[in-house]
Amino acid sequence: MIGEPVLRLRAETPRAWVEAVLADFDAFLQDHAANERKVVHSALTLAAQYPEHEALVEVSIEIAREELEHFAQVHALLKARGRGLGADGPDPYVGGMRRLERKGTADQLLDRLLIFSVVEARGCERFLLVAEALQDPELAALYQELARSEARHRAVYLRLCRELFGDARTTVRLEELLEAEGELVRGLPVRAALH
Ligand SMILES: [Fe+2]
Ligand SMILES: [Fe+2]
Repeated sequence: MIGEPVLRLRAETPRAWVEAVLADFDAFLQDHAANERKVVHSALTLAAQYPEHEALVEVSIEIAREELEHFAQVHALLKARGRGLGADGPDPYVGGMRRLERKGTADQLLDRLLIFSVVEARGCERFLLVAEALQDPELAALYQELARSEARHRAVYLRLCRELFGDARTTVRLEELLEAEGELVRGLPVRAALH
């Protein structure tokens, strides 16, 4: 799309990941639900931490609302399959991404927005892989819809970052974070979880 900033992930999710997800789809759904719940919280925290940035507050509320809807959708799926929400384990991917944030510096918000954008891009990539692999057309359609939504979040965070910090600073830091994310993803254990 013209004017749409480019964000190209550096590491492709391996086929083995899709196979692990399909082999234990309930475990994947439980982890997926936990991820959606956590991003609601992250988006609202962002709004609370930067109340002076009205555009950011609006974006955060809008995204939190959509993520809450995703959480409800995945929870309903689990319920229909006779399962509930799972235990809340640590997520090495999200933990690794959050450690890339330069906390307590003037670059903290720049980093936070770009990290959110990259994490959304990874979610989008993986939801599309799940959608392609699923046999159930209704379930596949849901994952396609979720992928579209995360793609929009990726673009919204990135656009906001460019508006607040300019193209040059955004592009330089985005490149660094994409490299780091690629390395992180290549080192992740393959499991029936979103990351
Ligand atoms: Fe989501
Ligand atoms: Fe999202």
